[in-house]
Amino acid sequence: MKSMFVVIEGLEGAGKTTAREQVKSIFLEFGVEPSDIKDVREPGGTPLSETLRNIIKDDRDDETLVDVSELMLFYVARTQLVVNVIQPHLRAGCIVIGDRHDWSTIAYQGGGRGVPKEKISLLKSIAIDDFEPDLYIFMDVDPVVGLERARGRGALDRIEKMDLSFFIRARESFLELVKENPRKSITVDANGSLDAVSSELKIKLREFLKHV
Ligand SMILES: Nc1ncnc2c1ncn2[C@@H]1O[C@H](COP(=O)(O)OP(=O)(O)O)[C@@H](O)[C@H]1O
Ligand SMILES: [Mg+2]
Repeated sequence: MKSMFVVIEGLEGAGKTTAREQVKSIFLEFGVEPSDIKDVREPGGTPLSETLRNIIKDDRDDETLVDVSELMLFYVARTQLVVNVIQPHLRAGCIVIGDRHDWSTIAYQGGGRGVPKEKISLLKSIAIDDFEPDLYIFMDVDPVVGLERARGRGALDRIEKMDLSFFIRARESFLELVKENPRKSITVDANGSLDAVSSELKIKLREFLKHV
């Protein structure tokens, strides 16, 4: 199988991190060696990007993080990850599995916070030119269900603390992105049991990979 960049997207508690193991297992089924699979997460995945992750998630009370500053921090972290980790692994023939990528920016900073799409795409082109994943897996969870799961995981970070309407707008943006990219995306109903979600994901991913 040729190298691929597969991204798992979705709201808080959608089951993205949980889905990663299932995605991995399907690639193994298709004959990929475990050593040829690279996991990354955003924001993060390089030493510098992990430092930026902490800045982005920190709910500090001495200064407000301006929406556009937040957007740029995400893109600095993403650029470091793409250029220093993702692209070299793709050139080496690996399957790279990403936990979030640019759809999260469009959904959260665009749909959620209201930063105009044009600003986001301008910044994207400055940051990573036309670099794009080969496949997006959208774990579609009801925001109420997802936030409940995220709460069960522990204390909420600065973004997880946003109100429900923010996540409802973010979900709508994700759904638009899916609609605009039918050939590059899989949508999984992420509201069901772990087993139900896992089997839908596996069926759809197998089907996609048969045709690449
Ligand atoms: N389908 C599911 N049903 C019930 N709990 C789930 C399901 N998927 C994930 N979880 C649990 O919900 C929490 C959030 O899942 P996680 O994979 O961390 O979501 P994300 O990475 O999208 O925020 C975890 O504790 C996980 O075990
Ligand atoms: Mg996660």
